Amino acid sequence: MAKHEKFNFKTYEDLESKINALGVDVSLQKDLSPLAQKVNIGHKIAPNAIAVLPMEGCDSNTDGSPSELTERRYMRFASGGAGLLWWEANAIVPEGRANALQMMLTASNVGKFSALLKKTQKAAAEYNGVEHKAINILQLTHSGRYSRPEGHVPRPLVPQHDPLLDERSGVDPSSDKQIVSDAYLDSLVERYVYSAKLAWEAGFDGVDIKSCHRYLVSELLASYTREGRYGGSFENRTRLVRDTVRAIKQACGEDFIVACRFNVFDCHPYPYGFGVDKEDFWVFDPEEPMAFVRMLKEEGVELLSNSAGNPYYIYPQVTRPFDLSSMGIPVPNEHPLESIERLFSFTRKIQNEAGDIPVVGNGYSWLRQFAPYVGAANLMKHDCSFMGLGRSSFAYPNAPRDILQKGEMDPRSVCIACSKCTQIMRDHGRTGCVVRDAELYAPLYRQARKDAEGRENV
Ligand SMILES: Cc1cc2nc3c(=O)[nH]c(=O)nc-3n(C[C@H](O)[C@H](O)[C@H](O)COP(=O)(O)O)c2cc1C
Repeated sequence: MAKHEKFNFKTYEDLESKINALGVDVSLQKDLSPLAQKVNIGHKIAPNAIAVLPMEGCDSNTDGSPSELTERRYMRFASGGAGLLWWEANAIVPEGRANALQMMLTASNVGKFSALLKKTQKAAAEYNGVEHKAINILQLTHSGRYSRPEGHVPRPLVPQHDPLLDERSGVDPSSDKQIVSDAYLDSLVERYVYSAKLAWEAGFDGVDIKSCHRYLVSELLASYTREGRYGGSFENRTRLVRDTVRAIKQACGEDFIVACRFNVFDCHPYPYGFGVDKEDFWVFDPEEPMAFVRMLKEEGVELLSNSAGNPYYIYPQVTRPFDLSSMGIPVPNEHPLESIERLFSFTRKIQNEAGDIPVVGNGYSWLRQFAPYVGAANLMKHDCSFMGLGRSSFAYPNAPRDILQKGEMDPRSVCIACSKCTQIMRDHGRTGCVVRDAELYAPLYRQARKDAEGRENV
């Protein structure tokens, strides 16, 4: 592994020579036309191959409906011209919210979601042409170990104990009271269906059964030590996703897309991590992740996105390569281009296994204005079907339009991978880009820091 470095490339050729010097499997090409290609998702068609990845703002109203800040974010995303908008984590049950302001679609607020969706569609057409009809997917989640539904107190609900994570996440290692029962997991299927039906009613094209970042379903995939119908065997650990996909397909019909964003690789030791070698958790073991893709395909899932790692633990570069980390995180033992290479290799494997089911890739934001050259090369090789933009979408929501209409991104608008958006989340604030959207988010960043320091000093 090479030394961690900050981004310091002025030209395409500078980046290319660093890639060559490191010997990483990351390609670039100047022809950006693959990004403009339409993509089939189930029975629907996305107008281009750029996606906004789910990016939680932690800023809904207390009832889970979109607030003014949420609305502003989605209006910016939609006007930006991406072909696929993957809406952030929405809790399926109140106790599974990651924070008191996490979005949560309910029968009483579905009208607000529907109104916002219509407004974003109108804005998207105004800025990108009447033909532009982006696909909107709503991510459904239960935050499991990272549930914190009210205030600042963690209320973890976990499928199994984890010696590395329990104390850090507020789980009492000596008691089983925070371990969810089989009956509780059984009951979640109908909660997913309830949320999916509401999403359909609101006008979304589909939902994602979020299975990444070590929230409940993601941790279930790795529940090797759990007993009963949801633990141990592959069949048991994947039961909740399988039953949920089936039930949603039955309830919402063929035209409603069921997607799955899942952790291909937890980078966490066996028997607590998914997709890892039993001896060395930094080594990827593709066997179960590939079997999971085959299972999702058989069940009729029509859209996939891979992610990796645990953003709450000490290796967040596995999920999102950065220049600077949020507080308390060590400098990674690898170059960000190596972290990117790892993410791309996962997307490639998943796309190969998934065949004609589109896979949304990630890990592009660190590449700043050069992301489109890399995304186009990955699309050209069929290593993914969408270039997904996460932090970049906070910083530079118009990037898709600039790429497609001007053929370039403006270096003065790009995400600088400074992790301040993550820091706000860790400080329990409402998040966005502190650098490129500074007027709004720099004060929110300072306030959240001050409040967090105040809590630490009590
Ligand atoms: C502030 C913040 C919020 C995020 N929210 C979500 C989320 O709601 N759902 C999800 O699947 N991933 C979420 N992610 C992860 C991103 O979607 C993405 O995988 C990651 O940032 C890497 O992509 P990037 O390099 O383009 O940022 C979030 C990341 C950040 C920094």
